[in-house]
Amino acid sequence: MTDIELSQELCAFIEQSPSMFHVAASISRRLESAGFRRLSEQDAWAVAPGDACYVVRNNSSVIAFKVGSELPADGYHLQMAAAHNDSPTFKVKHVPELDGPQDTLRLDVEAYGGMIDSTWLDRPLGIAGRVLVRTAENRIESRLVASEGDVALIPNVAIHQNREANKGVAYNRQIDLCPLFSAGALKRGAFDAMLAKLAGVRPEDLVAKDVFLVNRTAPRVWGWADEFVSAPKLDDLQCNFAALEAFVSAENPACITVLACFDNEEVGSGTKQGALSTFLHDVLSRVNAALGRTDGDLVRALAGSFLVSCDNSHAVHPNHPELFDAANCGRLNGGVVVKEAASEKYTTDAFSRAVFTAICERAGVPVQTFANRSDNAGGSTLGNLSNQQVSVHSVDVGLAQLAMHSSYETAGVADTGHLMRALKAFYEADIHIDGADAFTY
Ligand code: CO
Repeated sequence: MTDIELSQELCAFIEQSPSMFHVAASISRRLESAGFRRLSEQDAWAVAPGDACYVVRNNSSVIAFKVGSELPADGYHLQMAAAHNDSPTFKVKHVPELDGPQDTLRLDVEAYGGMIDSTWLDRPLGIAGRVLVRTAENRIESRLVASEGDVALIPNVAIHQNREANKGVAYNRQIDLCPLFSAGALKRGAFDAMLAKLAGVRPEDLVAKDVFLVNRTAPRVWGWADEFVSAPKLDDLQCNFAALEAFVSAENPACITVLACFDNEEVGSGTKQGALSTFLHDVLSRVNAALGRTDGDLVRALAGSFLVSCDNSHAVHPNHPELFDAANCGRLNGGVVVKEAASEKYTTDAFSRAVFTAICERAGVPVQTFANRSDNAGGSTLGNLSNQQVSVHSVDVGLAQLAMHSSYETAGVADTGHLMRALKAFYEADIHIDGADAFTY
């Protein structure tokens, strides 16, 4: 598959995945099509060497694993990758509508994560998420909803009412960022009625909702030389997609391979299904037990295991190179970015960098490096948080992109393939770790 075709598949994946719940559903569909068996956290598990299974928590986080068919009887290890399913957006409050002025109806929203506010203005927006609906007198169930068209827009103030607009605008999220839902045709209650219709129930049967604004601008590959891919939510669905494809296609009979796609990274990961939760540890300990291993066996396994934490990184901004460290910075289409920070906000250290870059080198995948400017703290990600529950050797990587947390981001058309090949090589490598002293691969 060419870089362009792969990027177009990424675009299709993003279009099918307008909320974190839809991302989890897209991942689940892909795993089902590859023959994975879904396990419920509420059931007892039977897992044997050769099995490929996945688990979903809160319908928004997914952990999949493959048990090697020749898993050593006297001790094993795990080769894992993680990414996140959520992206910054606006969540609609429980009472969704704000009146007027005149006959207008607006939506009452609040920020989910740290977006660039201005990128959400003057774009027709859709709605997607999950709703809880009554399906019988004593039964309420969850359904995915997504508008097929655009239903809201956050309008700018005209230049004539704000002559200073081009000097920069500080938006008040309670005042300036309320989406217009109706110019007068719709009355209060219309929003929930719309959700009910999307869910296929009567308005009175809509009980609760987690629904978000969606930039439905179509993702695309573009450029005179086809160098770019632009789409909503490249952070982190570009990594998510690459990791999923690598994981599904990789074969490794000698270890357990794992893919963890967590929700809620953009709001700190501190939820029951986030990277800080027990989810990964719960899954690993249950797999370990189902294989007839002891708790001590799992501790031994983790000591020789490795995690690649995948979350997008920054490409040097063409107009602002001064915002980047001059020596440790990445570019579009330059390969997988290894992120490192003295603060340990990124999990990369000399040992984990050596493991990952050695595998990339053997696979012929270019590697770049990123460090924050020393006068800028930079962002955080999920590796160091996941490591608080499941502590393993870990490296933080990502793909270089522009305009992170814009509602429409831009990345390099070749980089999805770079990460996919790197992670496939990682999953398939015969990695043996000896403490922090040495490794073979
Ligand atoms: Co991210």
